[in-house]
Amino acid sequence: ERQSRIRNFSIIAHIDHGKSTLADRILEKTSALTQREMKEQLLDSMDLERERGITIKLNAVQLNYKAKDGETYIFHLIDTPGHVDFTYEVSRSLAACEGALLIVDAAQGIEAQTLANVYLALENDLEILPVINKIDLPSAEPERVRNEVEEVIGLDASEAVLASAKAGIGIEEILEQVVEKVPAPAGDPDGPLQALIFDSLYDPYRGVVTYIRVTEGTVKVGDMIRMMATKKEFEVVELGVFTPKAVNKDFLTVGDVGYLTAAIKNVGDTQVGDTITSAVNPAAEPLPGYRKMNPMVYCGLYPVDNAKYNDLREALERLVLNDSALQYEPETSQALGFGYRCGFLGLLHMEIIQERIEREFNIDLIATAPSVIYNVTTTDGEQMIVDNPANMPEAQLLQTVEEPYVKATIMTPNDYVGTIMEICQKKRGVFQTMDYLENNRVNVLYEIPLSEIVYDFFDQLKSSTKGYASLDYELIGYKPSKLVKMDILLNGEKIDALSVIVHKDFAYERGKVVVEKLKELIPRQQFEVPIQASIGQKVIARSTIKALRKNVLAKCYGGDISRKRKLLEKQKEGKKRMKTIGRVEVPQEAFMAVLRMD
Ligand code: GTP
Repeated sequence: ERQSRIRNFSIIAHIDHGKSTLADRILEKTSALTQREMKEQLLDSMDLERERGITIKLNAVQLNYKAKDGETYIFHLIDTPGHVDFTYEVSRSLAACEGALLIVDAAQGIEAQTLANVYLALENDLEILPVINKIDLPSAEPERVRNEVEEVIGLDASEAVLASAKAGIGIEEILEQVVEKVPAPAGDPDGPLQALIFDSLYDPYRGVVTYIRVTEGTVKVGDMIRMMATKKEFEVVELGVFTPKAVNKDFLTVGDVGYLTAAIKNVGDTQVGDTITSAVNPAAEPLPGYRKMNPMVYCGLYPVDNAKYNDLREALERLVLNDSALQYEPETSQALGFGYRCGFLGLLHMEIIQERIEREFNIDLIATAPSVIYNVTTTDGEQMIVDNPANMPEAQLLQTVEEPYVKATIMTPNDYVGTIMEICQKKRGVFQTMDYLENNRVNVLYEIPLSEIVYDFFDQLKSSTKGYASLDYELIGYKPSKLVKMDILLNGEKIDALSVIVHKDFAYERGKVVVEKLKELIPRQQFEVPIQASIGQKVIARSTIKALRKNVLAKCYGGDISRKRKLLEKQKEGKKRMKTIGRVEVPQEAFMAVLRMD
């Protein structure tokens, strides 16, 4: 029977441990496509992904595997991202599976994200099959890593496959384990339809394309379906699977993973995580949705060219369709005009969205410094939620301000413990515990304000440990802190988009760094521009940008014409990301400078 030959699984791992490479190998072993064709077909739509070398989008592929027992099995392989920002996508794809391959690098061993992903897999009741990868590396220590998997994670690793995705070692063994150990989907093909939407995208011709996993029942082309959360009904136009080419099907049934279109024109009618059922014979209950992730970091996005405001709205509408964690709402700034306040899972998520808007939708953006959400109580007892520093009431009106804290888990070789503690203290971290693991490694726990780690914490951690430390964090709740708003004035004018929330004890130091940084970043103008940092009415730091004396062209007066043209070109380039505020031209970098600490 077909259903007993279906296996749905994901690959989970810490970033760079080899998920994508292994996925490629599995595709090679199970499909007629060459690696080059696969690359073109799988990744064509996502340049950005290829360039950054990280997986940010789910890939669900149907594969046929002829096993040693002579049967041909139908595999659905769902690739998952590994970065700390993308937990929600991992959890989405896991909800569509019965098993997961857990890849651990034989040289690096378990890292923070390995653990985080294992917890997600366990939450989804998945069968976890450990794979120790990169055994071809001279520094590989597969047996040590096998022990580590048993001791740190508590999984039976006695049958963990020793593999090299790069050299093609152990791939067949992995596929045989998938057949043997991952359970076939349970569910009744004749029952009332339940299909989980685990992703979706918008196609201008076909409308919303949903990626679904059928858990119960069967769906056919022409069926009337209902979205259980939005209650909207549609007629199924197209069904299919990715092999990875899109292949049309007449129906999808229990265990199938594929796509469904139904001339859905309104993006809001489908929600990732919702259950599709039959309009005629509806299921009683929706499937439990995947774990919904809320944004943790907010920033303002403004088009450099104000006329592009509507284009920006359209871009955000499109992006939010297959990125349910992205949030946005209109916002106005005195300095920057009309834009959107957007919520992201973390900084990488924010950067990727910005880049996608600029590249795919061709809109140049100014992004304000990222901020977290503060809970504020004013002296007259009013409770407020502040996600934009500009809206923080003045210091004398504040009763309490609470900020979000995270529990940060940092895994590092022993040698770097001192360095890491120093960084954490500087970021207002509170030490919790420290566990020595096998083989010279330590697991350090800190509680740190989220606002301190959203900016450059991860980069600092990496650069001061030669890349060896790994980080995972989760929100633990809000705690009161002595926080105030620091305003920045340019040419005597308060610039709302440059306001930032700082800890009282660090305000003076911070103010000094910021005005100096701004002085470097803002180009000289035709007149002198004073820069001030203030808390309420009180100026805490100041500096001045001297007036521009000479015309740029004057420098190469008499020089050759091409040199001049180049200079002008360069100026134009620089201008693209400038915003004129009052009479002052401010570059994009200035908006991030308010978070600089060095
Ligand atoms: P993300 O998609 O960014 O989460 O990373 P990933 O886990 O998919 O890792 P990826 O497959 O991109 O591999 C990361 C690096 O490790 C690449 O440079 C691979 O060539 C390399 N790599 C993967 N598998 C092996 C292996 O078995 N041996 C060796 N030596 N290198 C490998």
